[in-house]
Amino acid sequence: MNESILITGANIGLGKETARQFALKKETKKVILFCRNRTRAETAKKDLEQTTGKKIFEIIIGDVTDANSVRKAVEEMKEPVDAVILNAGGVIGKTAARLTPSGMNVQAATNILGNVILVEELIKRDKLKRAVLTVSAEAVPGVKMLGVERVSMKTSSVDEFAAVLNGSYFGSKFDALQAYAYVKYAATMWALSMARKYPQLKFVVVSPGNTKGTQAPDSLPLPMQFMLKFVMMPIVFPLMGEMVHTLEIGAKRFVDAISDERYKSGVFYASKEGKLSGDMVDQSTFFTDLKNTSFQDNANEAIHHFIN
Ligand SMILES: NC(=O)c1ccc[n+]([C@@H]2O[C@H](COP(=O)([O-])OP(=O)(O)OC[C@H]3O[C@@H](n4cnc5c(N)ncnc54)[C@H](OP(=O)(O)O)[C@@H]3O)[C@@H](O)[C@H]2O)c1
Repeated sequence: MNESILITGANIGLGKETARQFALKKETKKVILFCRNRTRAETAKKDLEQTTGKKIFEIIIGDVTDANSVRKAVEEMKEPVDAVILNAGGVIGKTAARLTPSGMNVQAATNILGNVILVEELIKRDKLKRAVLTVSAEAVPGVKMLGVERVSMKTSSVDEFAAVLNGSYFGSKFDALQAYAYVKYAATMWALSMARKYPQLKFVVVSPGNTKGTQAPDSLPLPMQFMLKFVMMPIVFPLMGEMVHTLEIGAKRFVDAISDERYKSGVFYASKEGKLSGDMVDQSTFFTDLKNTSFQDNANEAIHHFIN
């Protein structure tokens, strides 16, 4: 049973809704909101207390692009947690390709750096008891409708993954949405590698699916934002079926994958091939690179090139 849950990026969007849903479960005694901004975190905490009627929320401040701030946050944690949801992330927008002091660009650091350090520091200090959920995306196997190609690396070597993380893989033509697919692939492969390294813990990877009501589209280029907000989301996707859903449904995928024994460690669950909503299936059934244990370990090793 998961009595305590920590969620990164919990002040808005899927992270906040996941916090709300966990708080309403009978067994939940504590929900930790891991956020980078104290004011935004306090606002979310107050709202969550009001909507759930529960006073079980705590705040930890940390920026997932800043290794030291995450380490400091873990040091401050007095008690272990049962489950961690690595939700902070996104496409990022204009600053995505900018390098952070770690050597990863902002997009990779947001989706990977702090989330990985958080889990590894918790394990090192014996503060993680049961489960980790890595948030990925259907962009990894590809979303043709949005022009995102399936991730296809030449060798999936350590060097190739490292090039994805510092952005050099994409040369001068950095397309944040396409790069996002590769970054989420690296995050996914790290989690699948960890599932083998720590069989006593559940490491599950989940895409929330195409979810309305978050701030994710705001970081996309303006023409894409316009097309998504006014054409694809309200008209095209609903007509196609299993292409879009509410915030409640997106976050429920995380809650189910952590809580329900049917969701197994070492598996990336997301929508059926070509879909962005509906039932979740094991993505390795149609994207076989995910099964390659060398690729998984290469991603894990490459990430550690950026962690001192
Ligand atoms: N929405 C979708 O359709 C969709 C689909 C597939 C996957 N996803 C994934 O789902 C996750 C949540 O996305 P969302 O749609 O809920 O996005 P969102 O509404 O933009 O929320 C992102 C959250 O991450 C936090 N965050 C960003 N940078 C951070 C940093 N450096 N340190 C700490 N926290 C940081 C944000 O905090 P601030 O408020 O401080 O910025 C916010 O709380 C992401 O990993 C995203 O890639 C979303």
